[in-house]
Amino acid sequence: MCRSGGTAGPLRPGPLLCPVCPLREAAVVSAGGHPYLQPLRLTGGAVLPSRILPGPMEGITTGSFCAVLAAAGQVSCWVTPFLRVTTGLPRPARLRLHLSPYLSTGLPVVAQVMGLDLGLLGATAAGLVRAGAVGVDLNCACPSRTVVANGAGAARLRHPEWIAAALQALRQALPQAGLGIKLRSGLTDPAEMDDVLAAVAGAAPDFVTLHYRTAAEGYAPVEGGWERLARARTRLPGVVLIGCGDVDSTEAALRLHRQTGVDGVAAARGLLRRPWLLVDIAAACAGRPTAGADRRRALSSLRDMAVAAAAQRPGRTGFVLEVARQMLGDDDALFRELSRCQTLEQAARCLQAATAVAVP
Ligand SMILES: Cc1cc2nc3c(=O)[nH]c(=O)nc-3n(C[C@H](O)[C@H](O)[C@H](O)COP(=O)(O)O)c2cc1C
Repeated sequence: MCRSGGTAGPLRPGPLLCPVCPLREAAVVSAGGHPYLQPLRLTGGAVLPSRILPGPMEGITTGSFCAVLAAAGQVSCWVTPFLRVTTGLPRPARLRLHLSPYLSTGLPVVAQVMGLDLGLLGATAAGLVRAGAVGVDLNCACPSRTVVANGAGAARLRHPEWIAAALQALRQALPQAGLGIKLRSGLTDPAEMDDVLAAVAGAAPDFVTLHYRTAAEGYAPVEGGWERLARARTRLPGVVLIGCGDVDSTEAALRLHRQTGVDGVAAARGLLRRPWLLVDIAAACAGRPTAGADRRRALSSLRDMAVAAAAQRPGRTGFVLEVARQMLGDDDALFRELSRCQTLEQAARCLQAATAVAVP
């Protein structure tokens, strides 16, 4: 039980609405400057304001997480976590429900799909675009054992010919929408990447996001891992390449471009640690000051997520605890306190109390 979880006082989020998206503003002001600040143009005419993207995180980047980040202007678009397409075509209502946390922020949404059946993938992709997505991203990266055992996600990296066919099928299903693909550098061996990239280059999607690790490497440190991104850059001429993996600071984001030549970045866990990371990266690209680390600001975001989540769907702490783990670390006293909370409401009260006394 959270020690700060008393009952006094209503749960109140911090100020949620920000009239201008600083990320979008930085991109507009500096168009023509750093490649990351260039708009990402998708087939059909939709545009993502920059190439600084939030990495999708299943179970985390949804609901109140999206609402809080969007209201604070900390993202300029979304790539959703994967929608698994297995046995049947999801109904339109299911697709609308899947997209609603993202579309309700008013930002452009790329919907990620994962599956094996090309007909189902194409029909689902078309349904997602009809439901409001500006494009679709094919997940060939998920390392989950269950997913891989079923032949989906990163297991597809052993089948470059399937990847070529899947991209072709998706392009046919989406003649007027964006098309991306999310890759890891291999299932078990980064040498697998070369055939995959040849297949991808032939299909010419609008963008490719590459998490430099193989699925077998999970999230472990990999010596020289970014060199794989540099190699990918040379093998995908003319395709927008978004680098992913360990982009957890502005310095890392800028270094990634210098070392590999990628056109953009996707940051996932770093965004949990610092919800304003993408704005900071855009500011650094534009030569403007960045906010850097700020515990009180981070806690305020987390509190707002917990308060909004508790109001929407009271229940277990779920994603709030996962964000807290990334933000604070397992050994942090507040994280330990939060991990004893039984409900979102207790976690929200705990964070309200902690934010009130936090120092930057
Ligand atoms: C909890 C969690 C869930 C994730 N879910 C997805 C997903 O649904 N789709 C996807 O493409 N990547 C997913 N990823 C991978 C991230 O988008 C990203 O590629 C990876 O974490 C490496 O980037 P990072 O070092 O910035 O975290 C997930 C990662 C985490 C930690």
